[in-house]
Amino acid sequence: MKNIKTSTEILNKIKSNFIGLDTIYTLANGEKTKRVYLDSTASTLMMGAAYDAIEAFYDHYANTHSLLHFSAKISTEEYSWAHNRILTFLGADPQKYACFFTGSGTTGGVNRLARIFRDYRPERDTVLVSLMEHHSNDLPHRKHSGRVIHLPLDMRDTRPGCINLESVERELIKHKDRINYIAVTAVSNVTGIINPIYEIAELAHKYDALILVDGAQAVAHLPVKLYGHLNPGRNIDAFVFSGHKTYVPGSPGVVVCRKDILSAIEPEEVGGGMVDRVYVDRYTVKEAFPDREEAGTPNIPGAIGLAAAIEVMDQIGMDVIFEEETAFIHMALDKMKNVPEIQIYGETDCSICERAASISFNIKGLDHGLVAAALNDYYNIAVRNECFCAHPYVKEMIMDDLLEAADDFDIDKLDPEFILQKQGMVRASFGLYTTESDVDALVFALEDITLKKDDYKSLYVAASAGNYIHKTFRPDSRDRFSVRNFVADYLHEDV
Ligand SMILES: Cc1ncc(COP(=O)(O)O)c(C=O)c1O
Repeated sequence: MKNIKTSTEILNKIKSNFIGLDTIYTLANGEKTKRVYLDSTASTLMMGAAYDAIEAFYDHYANTHSLLHFSAKISTEEYSWAHNRILTFLGADPQKYACFFTGSGTTGGVNRLARIFRDYRPERDTVLVSLMEHHSNDLPHRKHSGRVIHLPLDMRDTRPGCINLESVERELIKHKDRINYIAVTAVSNVTGIINPIYEIAELAHKYDALILVDGAQAVAHLPVKLYGHLNPGRNIDAFVFSGHKTYVPGSPGVVVCRKDILSAIEPEEVGGGMVDRVYVDRYTVKEAFPDREEAGTPNIPGAIGLAAAIEVMDQIGMDVIFEEETAFIHMALDKMKNVPEIQIYGETDCSICERAASISFNIKGLDHGLVAAALNDYYNIAVRNECFCAHPYVKEMIMDDLLEAADDFDIDKLDPEFILQKQGMVRASFGLYTTESDVDALVFALEDITLKKDDYKSLYVAASAGNYIHKTFRPDSRDRFSVRNFVADYLHEDV
C-alpha cells in the first residue's frame, strides 16, 4: 500500500539513497574509510530513485523512432513525458517553449544556441558575456556569434560578487542595435555566487536583446522560473543545463528555448527523425517539437532518468532543497572563515550575494594541487582544483596571490610552470546528499593540513600542470575498480 509522504520525508529518504555514498578507499596511511564526495559541481552522484527508474525502464526499452510495438509506444510516451516534465519543472509554458536534449552536458546546448541566435538575428553581431562564465558559456559565443564583450562584476574590496547591473545597462546602451543577446550563468561554478538573472533579463529585453542562461549550476540547487513573471520582461528566452550535474550521470544536456525563435530558422542539426519527407533534391523539416531539434536516436534512458530525478526534486520542492543546501553553505563558510589561513574567493557575505553549492579557496602557503592531493590521500575527501574551466574569473581573483608568491610584479616574467602550480584554487562543492559531518570532515582536514604544512610539503613532489604526486603512495586505480576485472568476475566467477 502506498503511504503518501511529506516533502521532508521524501527528502530524507532520497538524501541517503545516492549511489556512491558508501564507496570505500584505502588511504596513504593504510586506513580504509568512506569517501566524502565534495565534487558535485563537476558531476553529482547518481540519485538512487533515478537509477532504479532507468533500470525498470530497460525492460521496455525500444527506439522512439519505432512506432507500433508495445515497447516502442512505452518508450515514446515516456520520452515525451520527460520533455514535458522538464518544461513544467522550469516554469516554461509548453505552448511557448520547447525542450530538447543535446550532447552530454551544457556545452553542446550552448554551442547550439549560439548558432541558433546568430542565425535568428544575423544583423546583430555582438554578445554580452560575464567575466565569471565557464568557458562553455563564453567560447561558443566567441566562435559562432561574432564579437563578445565581457561584463565586469560587482566589487567590494577585492572580492567580486554578482554581475554588475549598471555595466550591463551601460553596454546595452552603448552597442544598442548590435547586441543580439546576453549569455550569463545563473550560478558561478567557481564561487557558487547566484546572479540576478531575472533583473538581467529585464534589462536585456528593455534594449531588445535576448537572454541565454547557463543553468548548469542552478537546476539542481534552486528554483528556476523561465516564464510567467508578472513583468514579462523577466522571462528567459533560452536556458541550458547538464543532466550529469542534476543527479543523473549518463543523461544528456538539456536546452529549453522559445519555440518562435527555433521555428524561425532551419534546425542546426539534420538527420533521421527530424524530417517529414526526404527526396534526393530536397527535404521537409518537421514542425513539431522536440522532433525537429533532435536529429538521430537520442539518449532515451538518460533523458527518462533525468526526468525521474526532476520529478523527485519537484515533489520535495526546490524551495525546500534551496533552503536545506543554503544552510550547509552558510555553515561551511562560517567554519572555514574561522580558520585564519584559509582564503575564500568571491563575496563571502551571503546577505550581499547568496551562494549555491560551491566554495573555492586556498590555504596560504600551500599550492592548490598539494591541498587537493592531501585531502584525497589522507582524508578521502574528493574535491576539484585548478581553474575550473573559468580562467579569466579565477585569474582575476588570484592575481595578487600569484604575484606575492613570485615576489615579482610582472606576470609576463613568470615561468609558465610556476604559474600553473600557483594559479588555481581548491573547490568544495555540495549536493542533496551532503551532510553536516561532510562539512565537518572538510573543516577538520583543512585545519589539520594548515597545522602540518611542512609535513605535507615533504610528502609530495610537484608534477606537471599544477598537480602534486605523493612520493611513496602510488595506488593504481585499477586495483579499486576496472571494467575489465568486473567483466572477468561476471563471466567467470562461480555463482
Ligand atoms: C556553469 C557551467 N557551465 C557550463 C559547464 C559545462 O558543462 P558540461 O561539462 O556538462 O558541458 C559547467 C561545467 O562544470 C558549468 O559549471
